[in-house]
Amino acid sequence: MRHEYALYVHKIPVGVLGASGYAGRELCALIQRHPRLTLAYATANSQRGETAQLPGGGSVTFVAADDVTLGHATLAFSALPHGASAEWVARAREDGVKVVDLSADLRIGNGSSDGIPYGLTEWNRQAVRGATLVANPGCYPTSALMAILPLLEQGLVADGATININAASGVTGAGLTARLDLLFGEVTENFRAYGVGNGHRHLKEMRAMVAAMPTDVDLIFTPHLLPVARGILSTITVPLRAPLSDPLAPFAARYANEPFIEVSPDLPELRHVQGRNVVRLTVRRLEGVRTPTIQVFSAIDNLMKGAAGQAMQNANLMLGLDETMGLPA
Ligand SMILES: NC(=O)c1ccc[n+]([C@@H]2O[C@H](COP(=O)([O-])OP(=O)(O)OC[C@H]3O[C@@H](n4cnc5c(N)ncnc54)[C@H](OP(=O)(O)O)[C@@H]3O)[C@@H](O)[C@H]2O)c1
Repeated sequence: MRHEYALYVHKIPVGVLGASGYAGRELCALIQRHPRLTLAYATANSQRGETAQLPGGGSVTFVAADDVTLGHATLAFSALPHGASAEWVARAREDGVKVVDLSADLRIGNGSSDGIPYGLTEWNRQAVRGATLVANPGCYPTSALMAILPLLEQGLVADGATININAASGVTGAGLTARLDLLFGEVTENFRAYGVGNGHRHLKEMRAMVAAMPTDVDLIFTPHLLPVARGILSTITVPLRAPLSDPLAPFAARYANEPFIEVSPDLPELRHVQGRNVVRLTVRRLEGVRTPTIQVFSAIDNLMKGAAGQAMQNANLMLGLDETMGLPA
């Protein structure tokens, strides 16, 4: 008799709520390519019953959230809009499902985040690992905080300084919303600021993270709309306590063992990061100013490290898997 040996690898069922959106489809694509996960359900609202092609190949058929048993998944990603997400997160948790929430509803600084780890993975890994619920950071905050936190943690920023974050995002950052100002004719060959006046909703989570650091600083954040589909480039001006002989050194030291943070002497470009789960950073010293000042340049793909990719990093940790599993580096 011939014996056949097969290596049976159990796949973990995971669900996506809001799967027809930009972040949701990216998540479905990551799950379909993941060696240890299988897609239990993919929900949508207006696109219920429709089948969509996924980025990088494959397809998915959406079902209404009311028609799925949330408990059929071990973990669910909520890629629902702000306001709609918290209720579904609560329902999934009642059914014993672990959740990564991509919306702002449960993020630090947003009012209802008590004890819920903020999933900026490289800064909160231990809390994420044991968590049953994680609030995934916003895309702009991921780009900005990765650039600011090493300097604050190492006490290098001037006390009371104002850190100025100028950032530009591709249009998928606004989601699949039908809005006049997001029509092709309004966006293409154009460039403009929005959310000016330092009141953008992403400031709440950035301020909350910065407030936990030893130096007291102000943040100014000005977002811009870029005529590209995906990617964020942030240019961040930081007044220092004293000049730095090697301004890249604090970043190289902090991120030395981080597979998804690329510290490089070269200026980052969107083409370096599109489709990849990475933050790419560099630093320049500024000439001709009284206070020693540096600029940090940070690039991410808003749908990967800014949304689905980072959510997958967190989910891997919550499920006891290797953090990098199934992620394009
Ligand atoms: N886009 C980004 O770069 C980015 C980055 C970081 C975080 N996020 C956050 O991730 C979440 C998803 O963002 P997105 O850009 O992917 O949004 P999106 O493209 O607008 O997609 C939203 C999804 O939620 C569904 N939906 C909308 N209203 C619903 C409701 N009331 N009940 C149930 N389902 C509903 C939509 O389904 P139908 O279209 O079928 O109605 C769609 O599947 C948001 O909270 C966003 O802030 C986005």
